[in-house]
Amino acid sequence: MNGVLLAFLGGQLARASGRVILAESRRDLEARPISVPVARRYAREVLATWGLDDLVEDALAVTSELVTNGVEATLRHRAPFAARDLWIGLCRTDARVIVQVWDRTPEPPRPADQGREAIRGRGLPLVGSIAETWGCRWPQGGGKIVWALLRKSRP
Ligand SMILES: Nc1ncnc2c1ncn2[C@@H]1O[C@H](COP(=O)(O)OP(=O)(O)O)[C@@H](O)[C@H]1O
Ligand SMILES: [Mg+2]
Repeated sequence: MNGVLLAFLGGQLARASGRVILAESRRDLEARPISVPVARRYAREVLATWGLDDLVEDALAVTSELVTNGVEATLRHRAPFAARDLWIGLCRTDARVIVQVWDRTPEPPRPADQGREAIRGRGLPLVGSIAETWGCRWPQGGGKIVWALLRKSRP
């Protein structure tokens, strides 16, 4: 993980929790639907390794939504199935985890004010209801990172 990303994470987490990063992990994904269950399995395993099993449910829901969005955005944008089209990153303090999903498209996520009968548009509101906070940033190398900060016990 590069220094810029680390600095960002450090700043985010320091502001959010006043604590330092204890561990981080990242996995490359391909822009195809199978990457969603691949990312879920990865997140489950990493959080178990970190002893954060009580964050697994939240992390998997957020992972599903953000990776699905990243895959869809990538497939909309360019030829499909090239390797290393996205990545998922996990980063922890003692009681918090940041889920980050990078994709190569610059367009920001657009939370919709969906109506009761809308078929699409429920992913980001779900992420917003689970995460303490979430956002998007544009790293120097291109593309963008959508991130969500999860904490152990929500009120
Ligand atoms: N990673 C992303 N890259 C580009 N656009 C995105 C990304 N994530 C979300 N969006 C945009 O935000 C919209 C809302 O996302 P979401 O709430 O997950 O609903 P849905 O995926 O069902 O459309 C998407 O339709 C898309 O236009
Ligand atoms: Mg979605």
